[in-house]
Amino acid sequence: MSPPPLILGSMRFGEWGARLAPAEVARLLAAALELGIDTLDLADIYGGHTTTALIGAALAHDPGLRPRLHLIAKLGIVLPTSPGNPRGVQHYDLSPAHLAPAFEQTLRDLGSDSVGTLMLHRFDPRLAPAALADWVTKERGRGRLQAFGVSNFPAPALTLVHAHLPVAAHQIELSAAASAALEDGSHAASRALGAEVQAWSPLDGGALLADEARGPALDALAAEAGLDRASLLLRWVASLPGTRVVLGSTRPERLAAAVRAVERPLPADLWYAVWQVARGRPVP
Ligand SMILES: NC(=O)c1ccc[n+]([C@@H]2O[C@H](COP(=O)([O-])OP(=O)(O)OC[C@H]3O[C@@H](n4cnc5c(N)ncnc54)[C@H](OP(=O)(O)O)[C@@H]3O)[C@@H](O)[C@H]2O)c1
Repeated sequence: MSPPPLILGSMRFGEWGARLAPAEVARLLAAALELGIDTLDLADIYGGHTTTALIGAALAHDPGLRPRLHLIAKLGIVLPTSPGNPRGVQHYDLSPAHLAPAFEQTLRDLGSDSVGTLMLHRFDPRLAPAALADWVTKERGRGRLQAFGVSNFPAPALTLVHAHLPVAAHQIELSAAASAALEDGSHAASRALGAEVQAWSPLDGGALLADEARGPALDALAAEAGLDRASLLLRWVASLPGTRVVLGSTRPERLAAAVRAVERPLPADLWYAVWQVARGRPVP
């Protein structure tokens, strides 16, 4: 049986959310693996640069987990509070001078000597693709990463990088409510290059579940499909070809429902009905 098209996201594991203890993170990862979800999404900035170390502690707590996991490590955002940012300006830096030490720190925090996918977190217009490609190719040659990906890249920027370095995955914001990527070409451009689309915040960060205005209409459509609202919204995203859903739940008990939700696509008319309600207007 093929694995479910799901990735577990870690943004809310630590200080930016549930404040799980390492043993609780280990339990969540074990539950995900049991269900066939073997990919974990990370970024150096999560939890204000604390969540990667939390995951490292979880992997140390249960050493059986690490060999079974494909880790996605995103780098390239510098927060106002990030170390080595004296001016305190939020910015992006995709130069090897920034990425190399950030990658070392990620590996140290994880207690690991490699990751599955190294991913650029946001597009930096100053990007020098040839220098980037040299650095990534060297790191791949050292066995420290298997694949390369990007996140939140406009379609032309994707093409710019791909000309120097094959892009295996593109992580973009994508839910029935936040669906700009379907209309601005970045979802289609990823597919055209053969890059897997990874849809972040598939529930709009939980906002679509708390929404009172659109809730009754979404619930009625969910009932038609025999689903609850969260499952309907996850199935909506997973109905898109070439797309894996990056789920942000921190609760093991929610993972099995997510796996069932993404088992099959929605019929076309229901898919468009959900989109119309969530975005607040019909397609032209
Ligand atoms: N590349 C990027 O720029 C970028 C940006 C943002 C996020 N991401 C990645 O995408 C991941 C997901 O983002 P997200 O957390 O905003 O996504 P999400 O899946 O849209 O939202 C997750 C939130 O919904 C809540 N929730 C309530 N009911 C739920 C249910 N039935 N099933 C699942 N969740 C439910 C979760 O709470 P509980 O924990 O209580 O279940 C959690 O707070 C992040 O962890 C991160 O890895 C990437």
